[in-house]
Amino acid sequence: MTTDHYLSAGAPGAGPAALPREPIPSGSPLAGAGPAHGALRVRGALLAPLSGVTDLHMRRIARRLGATATVSEMVAAEDFARGTEEARLRAEGEGVLPHIVQLAGCDPRWMAEGARLAAANGADVIDVNMGCPAKAVTGGQAGSALMRDLDHAERLLAAVREAVSVPVTVKMRLGWDDASRNAPDLARRAERLGYAAVTVHGRTRQQFYTGRADWAAIRAVREAVAIPVVANGDVGSLDDARACLAASGADAVMIGRAAVGRPWLVAAVAAGLAGEAMTEPDAAARAALAAEHYDGLLALYGTRMGVRHARKHLAAYADQAGGLTPPERTRLVTTTDPDEAARLLRRAFEGSPARPEQQAARPASRAA
Ligand SMILES: Cc1cc2nc3c(=O)[nH]c(=O)nc-3n(C[C@H](O)[C@H](O)[C@H](O)COP(=O)(O)O)c2cc1C
Repeated sequence: MTTDHYLSAGAPGAGPAALPREPIPSGSPLAGAGPAHGALRVRGALLAPLSGVTDLHMRRIARRLGATATVSEMVAAEDFARGTEEARLRAEGEGVLPHIVQLAGCDPRWMAEGARLAAANGADVIDVNMGCPAKAVTGGQAGSALMRDLDHAERLLAAVREAVSVPVTVKMRLGWDDASRNAPDLARRAERLGYAAVTVHGRTRQQFYTGRADWAAIRAVREAVAIPVVANGDVGSLDDARACLAASGADAVMIGRAAVGRPWLVAAVAAGLAGEAMTEPDAAARAALAAEHYDGLLALYGTRMGVRHARKHLAAYADQAGGLTPPERTRLVTTTDPDEAARLLRRAFEGSPARPEQQAARPASRAA
């Protein structure tokens, strides 16, 4: 795997034609690798932030295997600034480079404080959540609700940008609803403020997760700004990634749900986009990665919480592997005995084909 599809830093204010400078060697933090607020070069495939899912260990595995980058679960900026344990765990990034922390909130002061703390604790990039559709988030006027008032959104973006010297990025939807598809306007404001990249999920907030992501609609953002654009929504394979990049004109794709129970997918797509052989791990390697993830969660959260937190991952790994009977699967996601869960997880892969469905590695048509 080459390093040239890594996220890498360039000079502030440089347009994409001038990017990249030198790719950052594997393992180097972004912080300090480039000037403050440096533009980013983004290529390949990133793991999306998924609240309650993209925990430290999932991000570590995805990144180690070759995902371009990973983004933390959203961290409530105020909770983080107040030092809650849950927020701290969500923002944990040891062993993940670059470490991208996504902050959510609607108050520019808390967002700035959260950003300052995250950067002080090692975040290489701060990402601002303006895409979350959940009522619990938009009810507090955070997430995609910020797209209803772009002047307020801009003040919040400015506060975060001024609070830190590391690169800042923003993730958004196409708009709040069909009548207000204002992602290009928001992206332009972010770019003027010095934001290094934007990610766009090709749905409006009112769509939640219904229908198909509109990759072509992301092109309006691509045409509005010169900074890198990452396209997101319904990418589940290398073919999807290529189609998404072709329709959107984006620089990279971000993969969320398709990587649950399959964190190696992001690396495989990144490699495929770079024209490299796309080999997903065989059953034994997948079993070892699933076990590593599970053990990591028990260590991170403690056994009691870890077993519970792991359930969605265990179910997804077992479903991908396909080796459990329905009663065994039920037991896997209900047992409170960590050893029993580990044994069932192993068994799930025993009946699994040696290799998941392969995708031919063809030279990338664009964007690598
Ligand atoms: C369970 C779940 C949790 C999510 N949490 C976040 C989050 O914390 N921050 C965020 O920006 N988006 C979040 N999203 C949205 C995803 O990052 C992504 O934009 C969306 O799932 C579309 O991409 P996909 O089709 O590849 O999953 C979440 C989505 C799901 C399904």
